[in-house]
Amino acid sequence: MITMGDIIRDGHPSLRKVAAEVSMPPSEEDKQILSSLLEYVVNSQNPEMSIQYGLRPGIGLAAPQINVLKRMIAVHLMDETGTLYSYALFNPKIISHSVEKSYLNSGEGCLSVDRAIPGYVPRYARITVKGTTLNGEEVKLRLKGLPAICFQHEIDHLNGIMFYDYINHEDPLRPIEGAIAIER
Ligand code: NI
Repeated sequence: MITMGDIIRDGHPSLRKVAAEVSMPPSEEDKQILSSLLEYVVNSQNPEMSIQYGLRPGIGLAAPQINVLKRMIAVHLMDETGTLYSYALFNPKIISHSVEKSYLNSGEGCLSVDRAIPGYVPRYARITVKGTTLNGEEVKLRLKGLPAICFQHEIDHLNGIMFYDYINHEDPLRPIEGAIAIER
């Protein structure tokens, strides 16, 4: 079981590397790693588990964050309509995106970043993601709102990109022109 002790923090060189594709079909070891990523995010949102094991709550986690430089991500979150997005994906890829941008009103956070970094993080408002599930099923997901932002944040981890890279550091809360503000 992954705990906060397994999660590498900002400044660790692995967070800035490009992760390798996972060869298909996935090995048992890769499946095990991917399912443990999903298990972390699910457990971290359970108040008892979170307290018992000291898990900081999160909605997504990428393999590089546990120092595994392979293209795997897990997300577990509810959108504003109450629809659950719970996915563990090998080789997730954004195959198309809107021109329109969106951002979270509250900014973003990351399990690998221990301090709050205020500022708007511009993201694509809508994306289509392809990837392979733990069962080896290929999926194509059309996402908007919080799920779209979360997937972009996690996929960025596979490319060595951190959320704060996008913040306008001269004026972090400057409105992003034409972008949809998402309440969280
Ligand atoms: Ni993160």
